Amino acid sequence: MTKCRRCKGPAVIDIRRHNAAFCTDCFLHHCREQVRKSIHDFRMIAEGERVLVAVSGGKDSLALWDILLDMGYDADGVYLGLGIGDYSNESHRMSRAYADKRGAKLVEIELRDDFGFDIPTGSKAARRVPCSACGLSKRHLFNKAAIDGGYDVVATGHNLDDEAAVLFGNVLRWATDYLGRQLPVLPGEHGFPRKVKPLVRLGEREMAAYCVLRGIDYIVEECPMAEGNKHLGYKEALNAIEEQSPGSKAAFYFGFLDRASAMFTPQAVAERVDLKPCSSCGAPTTGDVCAFCNLVVKATR
Ligand code: FES
Ligand code: ZN
Repeated sequence: MTKCRRCKGPAVIDIRRHNAAFCTDCFLHHCREQVRKSIHDFRMIAEGERVLVAVSGGKDSLALWDILLDMGYDADGVYLGLGIGDYSNESHRMSRAYADKRGAKLVEIELRDDFGFDIPTGSKAARRVPCSACGLSKRHLFNKAAIDGGYDVVATGHNLDDEAAVLFGNVLRWATDYLGRQLPVLPGEHGFPRKVKPLVRLGEREMAAYCVLRGIDYIVEECPMAEGNKHLGYKEALNAIEEQSPGSKAAFYFGFLDRASAMFTPQAVAERVDLKPCSSCGAPTTGDVCAFCNLVVKATR
């Protein structure tokens, strides 16, 4: 039987990337340590700061919230209802159930009730790909919820697999503007809260195992609108490489952060300088009306 690297007891999970196996307690400890290291190394959250966790009811965001609460952070959740049928109902239910179980505060926003549209019909009316309308709404409304609620930082559950897949896609197309912004921490400035990704040192499989071992119920289905999403293909390609040589994903992503990302940041910074308040909602934007207010108009006409 494989032994736990830390306590030598029977192991329940092995992580080839670290060439290590762990028992339940030591695995949970490992996950918290990886988050602690990310927060420390990238200066994500300072002592006493208030954190808003973007929660989808999936394994990553619930695990992140759980870890931050266990580490003693002042962390509330924010849930955005996208109106994508059963998927949204289920993800709302999972988010609510976790918040109730922990006695934690969950800020709930419903696109349909609060803004008069949902992703399936609104994206069609606005002639946008659902995922782009969805991403835009999330960015805007999480920022707004953080500013309105006096939070210092928005934390999202992007894990190593997500970040490596996005990086892979951006490198394939040499999308230099995106490469300049693909950081585990985006500073809070120009009216935006700081954005952090404390799970960048943990993989998809680790997050699923974390939830199972902690008894956290999460929504397993992926969003039905994301079907054919290019990132899924990039993930499969990277998984095939990882299978051949464990550690490739982490080397790819952290190598980029250490040795390449700085080359692309000046361009991203330059894009942020001439921001002014949206004439409709006050959020920082480069145009007269921000992209979200624009979407609301088109999605509800
Ligand atoms: Fe955003 Fe599916 S979660 S379109
Ligand atoms: Zn606006």
